[in-house]
Amino acid sequence: MATMTTIPIRVNPEDLSQVPKGKERIPEPGILVIFGASGDLTKRKLLPALYHLRQNNLLPREFAIVGVARRPLGDQFAEDMREGIIEFGGADLHDSKLDEFVSHIGYFPLHFDDPGHYADLKTELDRIDKERNIGGNRLFYLATAPEFFTDIIENLGAQEMAHSEKGQVAVVIEKPFGHDLESARELNHRVNAVFSERQVFRIDHYLGKETVQNLLVFRFANGIFEPVWNRNYISHVQITVAETLGVEGRGPFYEKAGALRDVVQNHMMELLALVALEPPSSFEAESVRREKLKVWQAIPPIPILNTVRGQYGPGIVVGQHVIGYRDEERVDPDSGTETYAALRLEIENWRWAGVPFYLRAGKRMKKRATEIGILFKQPPLLIFNRMQGSGPCSEIQPNLLTIRIQPDEGIALRFGAKVPTTPEMNVCPVNMDFDYESAFGKSSANGYERLLLDAMLGDQTLFSHRDGVETTWSLYTPVLQAWAAKKPQVFPNYFAGSWGPECADHLLEREGRVWRNDLGRKA
Ligand code: BG6
Repeated sequence: MATMTTIPIRVNPEDLSQVPKGKERIPEPGILVIFGASGDLTKRKLLPALYHLRQNNLLPREFAIVGVARRPLGDQFAEDMREGIIEFGGADLHDSKLDEFVSHIGYFPLHFDDPGHYADLKTELDRIDKERNIGGNRLFYLATAPEFFTDIIENLGAQEMAHSEKGQVAVVIEKPFGHDLESARELNHRVNAVFSERQVFRIDHYLGKETVQNLLVFRFANGIFEPVWNRNYISHVQITVAETLGVEGRGPFYEKAGALRDVVQNHMMELLALVALEPPSSFEAESVRREKLKVWQAIPPIPILNTVRGQYGPGIVVGQHVIGYRDEERVDPDSGTETYAALRLEIENWRWAGVPFYLRAGKRMKKRATEIGILFKQPPLLIFNRMQGSGPCSEIQPNLLTIRIQPDEGIALRFGAKVPTTPEMNVCPVNMDFDYESAFGKSSANGYERLLLDAMLGDQTLFSHRDGVETTWSLYTPVLQAWAAKKPQVFPNYFAGSWGPECADHLLEREGRVWRNDLGRKA
């Protein structure tokens, strides 16, 4: 088969300079309180994101960040955050702006289930508020293990911290939001008993990624794609979230989660919704959420035969020997937790009837790649068969539109071109490739920047609604129950560094298709 030629797409700097810049949205002064602040997320993602917002002058003049966790960390907390911002946010050690930023960080030790501690926290927040003239605005960020979510919410409620006479109060809740339909409903119920839905920001960091947001622009700001974006032209869709990482010391969390809960029910369903939704009437939270919900509601129950689970054994990932999942720290040596999940589903509506969506997510895969592949139907190719000397038309590949979410964000379109200088009509696949970084320069955003900013501004567009969360759980809970009822006998069933278990290939092979394993940017 011919090798693929890539035609890069460039952005004209003049065009870019003419794009009107929107008015920068800067939140009102406020206090951000992070519960579970001694965990990895705060140091690796949240604080670096906040620092970048500060650098870009997107934080208010007056703000305070208060880390809350059980350990008595004191001033050490701000120093740990400084290190995190340098290590994960690329800040310069001697940057004077870093000192200024760190001066806004404080720490408050608290036991999540001790009401007395919340009363003290309230006093401390009121003190900071007064000292910095903040005006009552508070954003509570729940980055703890999920079992503490309700304790925190209810204690905030009991201490009358969920509302403020002067300012706005909101709560950001990290995933996982529940572990099945019943627990998600219960959590929603308890959250909404304290905070109104307008105050609740259920975060899915995938929605903060530029390429994910670009899906809406790509689909609805371009005239040529939307007319072919349906069952008449698209044969099927593949969505892959492949990671080379393992569980990275999060064994106890992952043992209870598994790939379906960790990535498929949330991140992948968000990607699927943005590929499949109808044009919303505006980019306002309500319109976008309504259209996403309609997509999820149109998915019929997923037959167990259309699901595959896997667990990695030892292997070689990017040149390094790695251990199998069962040998990871604090993982059951006989664990039945899946580190890979694949499935086929359909969306039973006018646009998508009969178009399968294949989803797969796995840890310790061959390559890190999060991609959406839209495979188009082929035209009749008979004339190529009839032409003497030409290759068989079965070798002509269908058009493929690839949306790369990471690591090399971009969009590529594969089409067939005639191999030059031969009289035969031999067709070679070529690729038109738009790469975000070469076009717009490197973005430092990790998804959290945009989402933190939106939460501070009270914009819920990129956050999940309670109905959405419950609908996606209602799809996956029966699958999880069926899996739990039958412990897999064949685990581990894929080598670390492979493309997952062989049985996942059958999901597509039985329909004459194959997984795309040529993921990533073509040179
Ligand atoms: C998190 C999961 O939500 O997403 C992790 O808990 C996973 O297990 C991560 O590694 C993937 O995020 P990203 O942005 O690296 O694709």
